[in-house]
Order: sequence, then C-alpha cells, then structure tokens
Amino acid sequence: MTPHPGSAKQQSDEVATTTSTPQVAADSDYDYSNFYYSSSDDLFAIFKPYDEWWYGSARNNGYYLFSQPMSTRPGPQIDLEEQLSHTKLELLNLASYNYLGLSYHPEVIAAAKDALDHYGLGAAGSPILSGTMDLHLTLEKELAEFKKKEAVMVFPTGYSTNVGLLSALLRAGDWAIMDQNVHASIVDGVIMSKANARFFRHNRPDDLEKKLRGTTGKRLVILEGVYSMDGDTARLPELVEVAKRAGARVMIDEAHSTFMYGAEGRGVAEHFDLEDEIDIHVGTFSKALGGQGGFVAGSQSLYNYLMGFARSRVFSCALAPAVTAGVLAALRVAKREPELRTKLWKNVAHFRGLLNSAGVDVAESTSQIIPIMIRDDRRILGIAQKLQRAGLYLQPIIYPAVAKHRSRFRVSISSTHTTEQLNRAATILTDILREEKVI
Ligand SMILES: Cc1ncc(COP(=O)(O)O)c(C=O)c1O
Repeated sequence: MTPHPGSAKQQSDEVATTTSTPQVAADSDYDYSNFYYSSSDDLFAIFKPYDEWWYGSARNNGYYLFSQPMSTRPGPQIDLEEQLSHTKLELLNLASYNYLGLSYHPEVIAAAKDALDHYGLGAAGSPILSGTMDLHLTLEKELAEFKKKEAVMVFPTGYSTNVGLLSALLRAGDWAIMDQNVHASIVDGVIMSKANARFFRHNRPDDLEKKLRGTTGKRLVILEGVYSMDGDTARLPELVEVAKRAGARVMIDEAHSTFMYGAEGRGVAEHFDLEDEIDIHVGTFSKALGGQGGFVAGSQSLYNYLMGFARSRVFSCALAPAVTAGVLAALRVAKREPELRTKLWKNVAHFRGLLNSAGVDVAESTSQIIPIMIRDDRRILGIAQKLQRAGLYLQPIIYPAVAKHRSRFRVSISSTHTTEQLNRAATILTDILREEKVI
C-alpha cells in the first residue's frame, strides 16, 4: 500500500535514508524529504544545510514558483510578482479554487463590508466562550437546512475541521480506515487522535474490504467526494456498501464537491443519493464559496459532542465576522443561482475536450480539478517557468503534496472563465507540452 504523502508512514520511511545532516551539492537532486532529520543534538542544525539547498539550488531551479504574491483578486486574469526578478506579470489564472467566482461576487463583498462596519475585525473569542455571534448561528442554521441535516458546526478553516472532528471522535484502540489519497488534514486528525490507522488503495472497494478485515471495535471509513490532487470522484456506492456491511461508520470530506455536485449542489453524496447512508459530512468555505472556514454536517448529537471535544474549535478564535457574513452571502447566491454550476460544468467539458484532442494525460480526473500529469519532479519546475513566461499561471504540484514521481500541474476550472480564456490557456499549455515532448 502506498501511504499518502505527508502521512506518518511516509515520513517514518525517510528515517532510514536521512539520519545524518545532508551536505548539499550546488545543483542537487534533493527535495524536502532530505531535511526531516539531522544527526545533531541542536534543534536548529538543520537550518544551515536547508538554507544552502534553498538558496543554492532549489529556489533558483524553480521552487520560487511557490508562494508568489498575487496583487489582484483570484479571478481568471491576475497580477503576480515573479519572485526571482521581482517583475510584475499579468497572467491567465487556472490555479485558484474560486470555482464559482464567489470570492468577489458583489453581494458577498457588500455583506462582508457591512459585517466589518457592524462587528469590527475579529470575533475576539473562542466559539464556546465569547466568540459566537448571531451571524455564526445563522450560517450554521442555513447550512443545516441546505445540507438537509439536523445540525452544522462551523470551524475556522477546513484543515481545523478535520483535525478537530477526528481527534474528538476517535480514541486509542479505535480504527480509521482511509483512502490512501485523503487530504493531509484527515491524516493529521487521525494521528492526533492516536487511533489505529489503515489506508486502503485509492478508490478500491476490494481493498477497503481487505483492510476492514481483522479490525474490531469502533471503525470509521474516511472518503472524499472529489479527490483534491487527482480530480476523480469517489466510487461511493461500492465503498459505502462495503463499509456498511462491515458495520463501520462513514465520513466524507466534500471540500471540492459541495456546492458543485448533485442536482441541488449538496455534493457527490447527493449525486449518488447516499446522503443518509453517510454518517458525517465535511465541507469547506475556501473552495466554491470563495471564503474561508469549514463545517461538519450531521446529527444534533454529533454537534453536541463536538462542542465539547473538538479542540481545534474550542481553543481557537471563532471565524471572523466579515468572513462569516461573506460566506453566508455566498451560500445564498450558490443556492439561488444553479446556473453558476451549469456554467462551471460547461467550461469543464470544453477545456477537457481541448486537452483530450491534444492527447494530454489527465489521469482519472472527471471534475473541475484536472491534473496535467508530468511525472517528473525536476522537469515540472522548468515547464512551470516556461508556462508562466508565456502568460499562464498553473501551479506545479510536487512532493510532498503528491507522492514522488506523481508530479502534475493542477488545473482548476471556474465558472468565471470565458471560452476565449480557456482556448488561450489550452493553446499555451499544449504548445509548451509539445515543445517539451510531454505530448
Ligand atoms: C479534501 C480537503 N479537505 C480539507 C482541506 C482544507 O481546507 P482549507 O484550505 O479550507 O483549510 C482541503 C484543502 O485543500 C481539502 O482539499
């Protein structure tokens, strides 16, 4: 079984090969995996070789492409500061999660501005103490109605949602059985819970069945709706059937599918008519709603328990009022305007068609996330530089976000892209992939 990158298993695999402080060559094949450990007793000893690698090789050879500052909203056309030369670039953007363009919808901005005027900047307290405002409760109520669940709990981020939820529910001796491609926040929540962890092969009901065998007691099977790096959807009917047959509870993280999949936009579980079979539904506000925060939807009893035990929420400040109001407005727009989803899927089909006819490898993707598989961890950075210079912003995804030699560009399509922009992006992309003999 291949562990998910960043998982405890993967990180412990690195111990054997990196027990001493690395001596870094100027232009090395090193990557992050060489810098987990050093042989010194000084905690900071790792900084020197890391800086040597970073300034001597990594940064100049393409790692500067990460965290480049954008000075515009995350729309189809952006301004970005190129980190090596500090020049301003105007780029066509296919890298943001703003799938429905709601981060800058006029109603969303107006609601956030009003809340800022009314409530000020921060919530100034944990949600269980003084940080809960009427806005938070309205958002939870309207989301629960939307998801057709008894209750919804809002968290400060999607990451803290999974960490808080899983570390609250699972205990030492329990079992978390996860798809091998689940997000790092799920892996981290399970690690924090001290429960036993097993990964099953991606989207393989037969392997889930195998991994469930021999486990006893409390078990939670953890899936995603759309997998964030591969853009494929969970084989929910078969996976849920296997989990239920074994008597396990099921959780789904629909970070990249809520507000987009299903006739009413409730997600992949709605699409497969399996919402009631799944015990815990997770979503984020940072993708289709263009905001920030996350949520758990389920029973009132689940809500009550998390209120006491989800430490990432209990011991953290509540979501800022302006963001809460903006997310609430975005939810109302998403519910009221299903045509945004229709436009998104039209754009996805159009762009996918352009890639297919050029013979681009997009793995198993079927969603608005389209991986452009390069599978070469060093070459991808050079190709990313070329794309950027040609006017296309596509973020390279390399280890540890994906397994080594599974590097790819991750295209995110939005309802806000015009056909002309998608055509231009596909031309830049396929021309450069041809030049580089990738296709
Ligand atoms: C499946 C999944 N869950 C959770 C998260 C974390 O969400 P957030 O970025 O809102 O913290 C992500 C982020 O990309 C994700 O892909």
